[in-house]
Amino acid sequence: MSTPILEVRRLEKRYAASGILSRSRAGLKAVDGVSFAVEAGSTFGLVGESGCGKTTLARALLYLDPPTVGEVLFEGTPLGGLSRAGLRGFRRHMQIVFQDPNGALDPKMSVRASMGEGLANLGVPRAERERRTAAALELVGIQPAHAGRYPHEFSGGQKQRITIARALSVDPRLLVLDEPVSNLDVSIQAQIINLLLDLKSRLALTYLFISHDLNLVAYLADRIAVMYRGRIVELGSTARILDSALHPYTRRLFASVPRLTGERIAPKMEGDSEAGDSSRKGCRYAARCERGELACHSNDPELHDAGGGHLVACLLPEKNDQGG
Ligand SMILES: Nc1ncnc2c1ncn2[C@@H]1O[C@H](COP(=O)(O)OP(=O)(O)O)[C@@H](O)[C@H]1O
Ligand SMILES: [Mg+2]
Repeated sequence: MSTPILEVRRLEKRYAASGILSRSRAGLKAVDGVSFAVEAGSTFGLVGESGCGKTTLARALLYLDPPTVGEVLFEGTPLGGLSRAGLRGFRRHMQIVFQDPNGALDPKMSVRASMGEGLANLGVPRAERERRTAAALELVGIQPAHAGRYPHEFSGGQKQRITIARALSVDPRLLVLDEPVSNLDVSIQAQIINLLLDLKSRLALTYLFISHDLNLVAYLADRIAVMYRGRIVELGSTARILDSALHPYTRRLFASVPRLTGERIAPKMEGDSEAGDSSRKGCRYAARCERGELACHSNDPELHDAGGGHLVACLLPEKNDQGG
């Protein structure tokens, strides 16, 4: 088997405890021992409700905010062993697009200046920066002649196109897309999704696509990891997740209701969506689980192979409805 383009091994990210609201003295484990691999050329989907640790995981695996524990390998190279300069060189291969283009684009900088920054950091000369910026804007459907304009002169969808262009301008192989359409009008979401699909095939990209919307992830991804409170609770091919989800939480995500805004949310129990609390015993989903039994409150289920590379962390996984 070929080396995965990205491999994440037992990644943990802890935030220091601060103030009287902190969950425990040990701090908050926002990501608690996550492992997965992404094959080159594929789309890997990461799904889970707000607060489960998706953005923390994305930032940690790119070493924007390094992991507390664990390893990240890009094409077999452990990022943890790299110097700052080495890491900077690697980052051009893996870029991220965030949910909110307004936060990602400096309102006081022209599109040209914003886009030139990353290229300048890589030592790309001015003329070449200009050429690459224009080419990237063209790819995402923004007129290169508008590169002198400022963020407020563009719509939300156009701004997200510009952040995608900026990510692409350094010629990455892997794009981490962290809820790239969640802040956009429903009418614009499909355009951006289609753009991403088009770019992926034209540029032979690999995607790590992050969303709270399992139906959207299932539409785009080849493989899906479902995250709950800092952990992966189910991981498998999209076909398996669609046809025979094993974890009760995955099933609940599919049943989530569309809201007027187009955002899909799962029914929520107060204060129970957040990442790991180290004082807890047993399965972190037990309090919400309709199948939960006594054992679930004392045994923390490990992610294990339920057959054919379909992983689940549940003591009482759903029986396969379809396969019999
Ligand atoms: N910088 C930070 N300091 C402390 N806690 C944080 C920080 N960023 C995120 N968190 C907490 O970590 C958990 C996961 O957050 P996040 O990764 O943003 O989740 P998601 O992207 O899935 O919505 C949440 O409980 C959040 O409050
Ligand atoms: Mg997030």
